[in-house]
Amino acid sequence: MSKKPYYITTAIAYTSGKPHIGNSYEIVLTDALARFRRMQGYDVFFLTGTDEHGQKIEDKAKEAGVSPKEFVDKVAGEIRGICDLLNTTYDKFIRTTDDYHEKAVQKIFKKLYEQGDIYKGEYEGYYCKPCESFWTETQAADGKCPDCGREVTRAREEAYFLKLSKYQKRLEEHIEQNPDFIYPESRKKEMLNNFIKPGLQDLCVSRSSFKWGIPVPFDDGHVIYVWIDALSNYITALGYDPDGSGELYKKYWPADVHIVGKDIVRFHTIYWPITLMALGEPLPKKVYGHPWLLIGMDKMSKSRGNTIYADELVSLFGTDAVRYYLLSEMPHANDGSLTYETFIERYNTDLANILGNLVNRTVAMANKYFGGSLPCKTCRGDFDDELISTALQAVPAMTKAIDEFRMADAVSEVIALARRSNKYIDETLPWALAKDESQRDRLSTVLYNLVESIRFLAVLLQPIIPETAEKIFAQIGTDLNSFDSLASFGALPEGHTVGTASPLFARIDAEKMLAEIAERHKAAEPAPVKEPVPGLAQIGIEDFAKVELTAAKIVDCEPVKRAKKLLCLTLDDGSGKPRTVASGIAKWYKPEDLIGKTVVCVSNLKPAVLCGVESQGMILAADCGEDDVKVLMLDGVPAGAKIR
Ligand code: MSP
Repeated sequence: MSKKPYYITTAIAYTSGKPHIGNSYEIVLTDALARFRRMQGYDVFFLTGTDEHGQKIEDKAKEAGVSPKEFVDKVAGEIRGICDLLNTTYDKFIRTTDDYHEKAVQKIFKKLYEQGDIYKGEYEGYYCKPCESFWTETQAADGKCPDCGREVTRAREEAYFLKLSKYQKRLEEHIEQNPDFIYPESRKKEMLNNFIKPGLQDLCVSRSSFKWGIPVPFDDGHVIYVWIDALSNYITALGYDPDGSGELYKKYWPADVHIVGKDIVRFHTIYWPITLMALGEPLPKKVYGHPWLLIGMDKMSKSRGNTIYADELVSLFGTDAVRYYLLSEMPHANDGSLTYETFIERYNTDLANILGNLVNRTVAMANKYFGGSLPCKTCRGDFDDELISTALQAVPAMTKAIDEFRMADAVSEVIALARRSNKYIDETLPWALAKDESQRDRLSTVLYNLVESIRFLAVLLQPIIPETAEKIFAQIGTDLNSFDSLASFGALPEGHTVGTASPLFARIDAEKMLAEIAERHKAAEPAPVKEPVPGLAQIGIEDFAKVELTAAKIVDCEPVKRAKKLLCLTLDDGSGKPRTVASGIAKWYKPEDLIGKTVVCVSNLKPAVLCGVESQGMILAADCGEDDVKVLMLDGVPAGAKIR
């Protein structure tokens, strides 16, 4: 019988920088799910990859002084390296700069345009550069992006739009008739109530303000909106082509599940299904919006300096320990937390004490008392039934938890069997049985039961900690590792011989390890910079890039009553909104000298109140000798131009 196909995907990571352990959680989770389904007998296709276009990436490349392609090649390599380091078994790694993907996206765009689902219009509203999103006046009422909270700028441009409004009703019906489509329930409610029911506005699906994207095939000045490009990866990876798709597509689409973070559920449950509806293709069966991994209680961010990377953790604890932590600690609906302290605690408790000791003690006893071969498996006694039923019920319990994406519960079902097995050792006291020659068969059966329980554990742990599972199979001397072999207890034959014991996880001395981590972090801090000018540290280009300099025309200027030194300037910085700046230049300039001049404004300076005036920025001036200040004036530069 041919195997049932199962198609599972992660979000594709932005190549704007090295991914942190939160991003890595998603691929590990997806890998564990994919491995579990393979073990169940599905024909799995597991897709991951990188999202490589967009303004943010274009800007980053510029900052780094390389071409966007050079930039994304490097980061995509790093991302793939981390996926491999974490031992993830993706079947395909797609990059949105792959030629076949770009061509297919252009065809998709063209098809939607030709059939009237994409149309050309003009956008006027507010634009959030980091999110590459347009917002209406109401959505960005406080001048901030509703998604990321950063400042938006007024923008107007010719653009293409996708008719979301046309499909709103159908989408709503689909979500209601397919209660499993958006998971968990809380995210479904959020999508329906906060986004879909209030009314979908047509989506702007092209950009003309930057170049690093897939060109609109029939209109040179525009690139395709990064989300249309990125979302399409799920079908282009399978060889989707509007003119006739390949075999992989026919076999695996629609996806069984898209695994994505909670922040991007909206894109996957509104834009993506509507795009597919317009293409006349079936919708994915499920979108699971997983929660986020926090550092302690905080969001991970470079500026907070609390970012942790997978490679750092792997170098300290090993790949399986990192996988184990991520899979056992992350709840399925609420955010999870990572600290070095909780990491070490979980490692010591679950991996070193519960699992490691169990395997080590059992294999050592089998060798010590029987030279490794267990002659009898049928001398039943007290506690056997309980152990056996715990082993047998771990299989459906883990399966149910995985079906519901409760991975941490799935792991704890398995660890419960390890706990029960340790208890069985305490109850049956093999070392006492060993002293009594008449108990040889019973001792052999006890050890057999333990080895068989450990085999159950190893089979179930394969999707979670695959390398460790393999080591356990070697130590207990079997390669009977299939899911089907767990249908009954006792698949190992009588007379089974175990291998040799060797510790799986060495216990960690928490204090010592935490001190080592602190030491590493100290060593990784940037060395104090040499100071070429006394008092002034050198900065990197990335520090300079944080300062936003904008050409601004002075449209009005007046003295500030409460401060003789200040002039209050009203600037046109091209955003469409007047900007007020207070500047201490009254000694050198009269208002009429300044009105009409174009100056350099530091436009992302935090606003400050100076003598009753809220100053929204600062203009640049030069000290030209003692008590002489000259404002930098620009000639022939339009208001709003960015200065770099
Ligand atoms: N490129 C888009 C996805 C396009 S999918 C067609 C993107 N990239 S991302 O690099 O920002 O995020 C990749 C995934 O990591 C997303 O699913 C995101 O939700 C997830 N995570 C980002 N930070 C995370 C945590 N702190 N914890 C868990 N997942 C996190 O979004």
